[in-house]
Amino acid sequence: MKDAISFILNNETVSIRDFGPTETLLDYLRLQKRLTGTKEGCAEGDCGACTVLVGRLMDGSLRYETVNACIRFMGSLHGTHIVTIEHLAGRDGVLHPVQQAMVDYHGSQCGFCTPGFVMSLYGLWLTSDKPSRADIEKALQGNLCRCTGYEPIIRAAESVTAARPSTLFDPIERDRSSIMSRLWAIPMNETITVSKGDCRAIIPSNLTEFASAYSAEPKATIVAGSTDVGLWVTKQMRSLTPVIFINHLSELQSIQIENGGISIGSGVTYAHAFTVLAKHIPPFARLIDRIGGQQVRNMGTIGGNIANGSPIGDTPPALIALDATLTLRSSSGSRTIPLEKYFIDYGKQDRFAGEFVEKIFVPIPAPDAHYAIYKISKRRDEDISALCAAYHLKLDPAGAVEEIRVAFGGMAATPKRAAKLEDVLRGKPWNMETIEAAREAIDEDFKPLTDWRATAEYRTLTAKNLLTRFFLETSGERQELQRFELAEA
Ligand SMILES: Cc1cc2nc3c(=O)[nH]c(=O)nc-3n(C[C@H](O)[C@H](O)[C@H](O)COP(=O)(O)OP(=O)(O)OC[C@H]3O[C@@H](n4cnc5c(N)ncnc54)[C@H](O)[C@@H]3O)c2cc1C
Ligand code: FES
Ligand code: FES
Repeated sequence: MKDAISFILNNETVSIRDFGPTETLLDYLRLQKRLTGTKEGCAEGDCGACTVLVGRLMDGSLRYETVNACIRFMGSLHGTHIVTIEHLAGRDGVLHPVQQAMVDYHGSQCGFCTPGFVMSLYGLWLTSDKPSRADIEKALQGNLCRCTGYEPIIRAAESVTAARPSTLFDPIERDRSSIMSRLWAIPMNETITVSKGDCRAIIPSNLTEFASAYSAEPKATIVAGSTDVGLWVTKQMRSLTPVIFINHLSELQSIQIENGGISIGSGVTYAHAFTVLAKHIPPFARLIDRIGGQQVRNMGTIGGNIANGSPIGDTPPALIALDATLTLRSSSGSRTIPLEKYFIDYGKQDRFAGEFVEKIFVPIPAPDAHYAIYKISKRRDEDISALCAAYHLKLDPAGAVEEIRVAFGGMAATPKRAAKLEDVLRGKPWNMETIEAAREAIDEDFKPLTDWRATAEYRTLTAKNLLTRFFLETSGERQELQRFELAEA
C-alpha cells in the first residue's frame, strides 16, 4: 500500500505524504507553497476568489476544470495537474491574454477577487470555442465582485474569448503533451493511505477497494466533490477521520442512456451530467444551472446531493417526480430501491453500515408528458432553495390526469411526494376548477417549518401557487415563466 499522493503543481511534480484528510488545497497553496495569488474570501465555495484549475486524464484526454480550492481537500488531487494564477504569465513575465484583457477593459477594481475571475475566464477560454454571453455569465456565476464591476469583466471576457488560444502564449496548450505523459507516469493502481497524527485519508484505487475499505470502516466519511463536506470543515471546524476519497473512481463516473432512462454514476459531477440532461431532460439541466457556481458544479455530484439526505437538496424532488431509483452497494453486493424510499426521516436514510450510493437511474419523461421543476430562492444564482417543486404529468386522450407525480423539497423533514395532492388530481379533468380544489390538499401533505429562508406560510402559499403555475404553463394559458436559454456546459 502506498502512503503518498502525487500531482503536478503548475510545472512542478510533487509527492506528499504529510497532510491531514481535511487539509484544503487553498491552505496548501498559500501556507506551504506561498502561492498567494489564490485568495481566501468566503472559504465556503461562494465567492470564487480561490479558483484554480484542476486537470485530469479522462478518456485519453486531459481536461481542465475550475474548482474552489477552499473546499477541495488534498486527498482528492492524486494524479491531477493543478494550475494557479502564478502559472499564467509567460516565462518573460508577459501577461497571458486573459490577464491582459482584464487590464485593457478595466476589469479589476479592488483586485482581491481578480485572480479568481481570471482563472474562471481562463477555464472558459481553454474549453470553449466561441462562448456566448450566457456561457460567459455561467462561467462567472461562482465569482463575486462586491464593487459591481461585472460589466468591464464581461467586456474583457468577450474580447478575449473571441480570440482562440495561441499555443505560444498558453502554458497548458504549450505543454499539454508533456503534462499528459507526466500524469500517465503517476501510478493510479494502488490504494493510498496517508496518515497525519491520528487522522487518515484513504484513496482507494478502484470500486472494489472502496467497498472493502468502507465495509472495514463504516464510520468513515466518504468525500466525492466535497462541496458539502468541505463546509463541515471550513465552517463547522469539524475534524474528520478516516476520510475515503472517491472523486477519481472511473467506475462511479459513467453516465449512459439505457432502458428508457439515464444511468448516472454517483461520482458524476453536475457539469459532467449537464450535456446529457440538457439533451434528454431539459428542465433538469436548467435546474443544474442554478446549483452553485461553475466551480461547485465541476466538483459536486448528484450522488452527494442524494447521499447527504438534506431536505433542501435540489435534485431529489426532481428525481422523485420522475420515479428515479437508487442503487446502493457494499462489499457484499448491491440493491436498488425507489429513491423516494431512501429518505426515511430528517438525518435518517435507508443505508446500511458499509453501503454507499453507486448510481441513480432516471427515467426519461415520455414526449407527451409534462415535466417541470421550480426552484424558489432569494437569488437566481448561487442560492439554496427555500422550496423546490417538481411535477410530472401525463394526460389521457380526454384531457384528464392519467399519471401524476409531485415532489417537494423544503416542505418537510425530507424530500417528499405530495401524496394527497396526487390523489386529488388523479383521474380529474386538467382544468382550473380541479386545480382550485387540489390546492387545499397541499395543507394536508405538508406542515413546513419557518426558518431563515422562508416562513411556513410563504412556503405553503408558494407551493399552492406553483401548482397553479404548472397548470397555466401546461394548459398553454401562460408561457413557461422561468425559461432561459441553456448555456453550453
Ligand atoms: C457554494 C455552494 C452552493 C451550493 N448550492 C447548492 C444548490 O443550489 N442546491 C443544492 O442542492 N446544493 C447546493 N450545494 C450543496 C452541494 O453542492 C450539493 O449537495 C452537492 O451535490 C454535494 O455533492 P458532493 O459530491 O460535493 O458531496 P460531498 O460533499 O463529497 O458529500 C456530501 C455527503 O454525501 C456523502 N457521499 C458522497 N458521495 C457518496 C456516495 N457515493 N455514497 C455514499 N455517501 C456519499 C458524503 O459522505 C457526505 O455525507 C452548494 C454547495 C456550495 C458549496
Ligand atoms: S474562498 Fe470563496 S469560494 Fe473559496
Ligand atoms: S474588483 Fe474585487 S470585489 Fe470587485
